[in-house]
Amino acid sequence: MLQAKITAYAKINLVLDVLRKREDGYHEVAMVMQAIDLSDTIILKEAERNWITTNSRHIPMNMNNLAMRAVTLMQREFPDRVPKLEVALEKHIPVAAGMAGGSTDCAGVMLGINQMCDLQLTQKELEILAAQLGSDIPFCIGGPTALATGRGELIEPLPECPELYLVLVKPPFGVSTPKVYGNLHMDEITAHPDIQQCIDGLHAGDKQRILNAMGNVLEQSTFELHPKVKTIRDGMRAFGAKHVMMSGSGPTVFAAFAEYDKAERYYKQLKRQYPGAILTRTINKKQLEERVNKFGWEQ
Ligand code: C5P
Repeated sequence: MLQAKITAYAKINLVLDVLRKREDGYHEVAMVMQAIDLSDTIILKEAERNWITTNSRHIPMNMNNLAMRAVTLMQREFPDRVPKLEVALEKHIPVAAGMAGGSTDCAGVMLGINQMCDLQLTQKELEILAAQLGSDIPFCIGGPTALATGRGELIEPLPECPELYLVLVKPPFGVSTPKVYGNLHMDEITAHPDIQQCIDGLHAGDKQRILNAMGNVLEQSTFELHPKVKTIRDGMRAFGAKHVMMSGSGPTVFAAFAEYDKAERYYKQLKRQYPGAILTRTINKKQLEERVNKFGWEQ
């Protein structure tokens, strides 16, 4: 039986800038995206019908699930090559958290099908297909560090980020990305982050430059809709972290550190106030390249 196992990594934004609202309702963005060592596990198996199992109570168990939409997209594109599939999704990435959890599962399914059915699609071809299902999915096909422009779907690889250590806090509620974009007042954005400084920092492998460039213009909008997110951001700063930012449209907030010792000390203290805090790190190319495993024709 054809099978594949995929490790689907979450992402954070190191920079998220919004440049303008477009005619099609989307926003033109410029983002530096980074894959992190927090992942879901997906097992794909040939089956009699398409179906999904999951350990999560927070995701739809039907064909609206992004992972299942990836299955049907690939079956539609390659009807003679892609069989009906069972998707077993073990979730660890918080849902509706601003860490591309749904997008990375979707990308993971596409990568898994590409390998298990030997479709031999290139990364670019997969990215183009993935863009049909959501703006963040093309990044999740590649990575681990990339510049995303357009509505987020146009991906250019960037030099691998030197390892950064991250402490994440996910508030106990989700956030709607369309609502956050809908509540964004473009004329009220006075300061845009310096994305070039981040890109230069990546080229130089200079952690401090990368950390100093962090910024997310969606924070203001999410803070208005969910003031608790601002309280957490301010609280994390008050706890002694210099580089604290919301990821994506939120509500996850993270503190980033150049040194593991500092991150670990901070994490231990922060955990007393936020027991669900997560200590993790950025991932590199090698780790990402090992994320898909094909089992072959096993029973
Ligand atoms: O592409 P995706 O389905 O992830 O986007 C969800 C929603 O977020 C869009 O329908 C849009 O309202 C908003 N969005 C946006 N600009 C972007 C990305 C998303 O306005 N660049």
